[in-house]
Amino acid sequence: MKKILIINGPNLNLLGKRQPEIYGNKSFETYLKELRDKFPDIIIDYYQTNHEGDIIDKLQASDGKYIGIILNPAAYTHTSIAIGDTVIALDTPVVEVHISDISKREGFRQYSYIADYVAHRIMGIGLDGYELAVQYLIENH
Ligand code: DQA
Repeated sequence: MKKILIINGPNLNLLGKRQPEIYGNKSFETYLKELRDKFPDIIIDYYQTNHEGDIIDKLQASDGKYIGIILNPAAYTHTSIAIGDTVIALDTPVVEVHISDISKREGFRQYSYIADYVAHRIMGIGLDGYELAVQYLIENH
């Protein structure tokens, strides 16, 4: 069976209670169940961490094991040259997802250190962005 990995960065474990006006009311666990039900032929693994190095370790350990990786590095998007360096080193395509539209938020959120190295970017459509990312990887791997 084809496999996809979702990696969520810091504070995304708080989805549902964290700034619901920006990130919505649903926890990622609830959303993930719905997502898995929509793609019964795909194994969707999920990993969340609040630690930058853990994202790097997970990316490195996962290379070659998935048809693609969906990565929302959260705030590390805007700070982490190291995660960008990892993404460029992978053979596995990465789709960058953001729940909010980072291009329309504070200036410090508008730069992404991974944007130049990803296969595709989706932002500003809420959690549905993860579904579109799965669809993209199924169609383009
Ligand atoms: C985010 C946007 C980031 O700026 C923010 O730090 C996050 C979530 C998003 O999904 O919209 O934690 O990546």
